[in-house]
Amino acid sequence: MNNFTFYSPTYFVFGKNEENNTGKYVKRFGGKKVLIHYGGGSVVRSGLLDRIKASLQKDEIEFVELGGVKPNPRSGLVYEGIELCKKEHVDFILAVGGGSTIDSAKAIAVGAMYEGDFWDFYSGKAVEKALPVGTVLTIAAAGSEGSSGSVITKEEGMLKRSAGGEAMRPVFSILNPELTQTLPAFQTAAGVTDIMAHLLERYFTNTKDVEVTDRVIEGLLLSMIHEAPKVIENPNDYQARANIMWAGMLAHNNCCGVGREQDWGSHDIEHELSALYDCAHGAGLAVVFPAWMEYTMKHDVLRFAQLANRVWGCSMDFKHPENTAKAGIHAFRNFLKSIGMPQTLGELGGKEEDIPYLAHTASYGNGNDGTLGSFVVLKEEDIANIYRLML
Ligand code: NZQ
Ligand code: ZN
Repeated sequence: MNNFTFYSPTYFVFGKNEENNTGKYVKRFGGKKVLIHYGGGSVVRSGLLDRIKASLQKDEIEFVELGGVKPNPRSGLVYEGIELCKKEHVDFILAVGGGSTIDSAKAIAVGAMYEGDFWDFYSGKAVEKALPVGTVLTIAAAGSEGSSGSVITKEEGMLKRSAGGEAMRPVFSILNPELTQTLPAFQTAAGVTDIMAHLLERYFTNTKDVEVTDRVIEGLLLSMIHEAPKVIENPNDYQARANIMWAGMLAHNNCCGVGREQDWGSHDIEHELSALYDCAHGAGLAVVFPAWMEYTMKHDVLRFAQLANRVWGCSMDFKHPENTAKAGIHAFRNFLKSIGMPQTLGELGGKEEDIPYLAHTASYGNGNDGTLGSFVVLKEEDIANIYRLML
């Protein structure tokens, strides 16, 4: 196991009706003038936004609003938010929604404390200061409610890039699983896929002797395999929703990733797909991850076989562990299909002729130097081969 530090100071409030206490938590974390940030309208339709406003009013907290965050959030609205914060002297950002809304809120929080262009932080500049961000989460997926990262797409060139820094980690996050019951099945499944991908990006490592984090990841994957079909079958299954929601946080606040090298190649490969085709990030990962696994399996067949055996219940073929490894990838694909996720690039709106562009931007974008990944370092040609496996 490698040396590490772990500091994850978000205050989590979990359970039914907790969104009605939002004002109390904003106050606790020093907010006096709040920007309520939200997406395309689900929180308006569900009545959540009104409940949040009532809670702020009860605690005599002033607020302004900015809705309209799109999935794969865009820089245009971030600039608007920054301007609004500066003009209104906002001192706290409250994100009400999913990963896209939270990421947009984080970008505004950073930009509001900076004189230059916020995009600098999405082009490699270190984040040092940000307004405090609180969240009321409505979808279990990206893990942004507990993470120090944010992903934004710049309209010009459709560049999807990430920024990270401790100042961006939410000061509090309210997680009420009931709020996720209005999600369409596709979004629920895309969220589950993203959660599993966050676990797998950490699982595939070259670091030895990481049994504890291996087992934590395997346990979370097993619980996702167990719980996801229940919510696809019955969207109102509160207990299954609750388990998935907490798994989404644990999968990405890095408690599973400490002390080990992590890969993140599949995420970089996927981000080019959601940038170019505007597909749901989780749906993109459903296509990318199994292809990445097929391509990289030979690097450490025993690790793939271990996953197949411990998580997918495939019997271990000690003479030919590659058979076990392949059976695991097959089981993963079948699982993703069973929850309604796409299997091919075409289903995401992708085209074969785009592959050279995708491979090039993936290998050189997001601060990459022509390669990506860490478990297996992939060059542009490898990335193109992986995209081809998705056809
Ligand atoms: O915009 P509204 O109307 O709210 O609708 C959203 C959106 O259309 C809808 N939705 C959310 N909660 C709902 C709901 N509909 C009905 N009922 C509810 N309770 O679902 C759609 C997707 O929402 P979005 O916020 O885009 O989903 P998600 O949480 O999957 O976020 C995806 C974004 O997060 C980034 C992804 O790249 C993508 O841009 N990621 C952020 C990470 C981070 N900050 O740490 C890490 C991840 O790997 C990921 O890259
Ligand atoms: Zn993700």
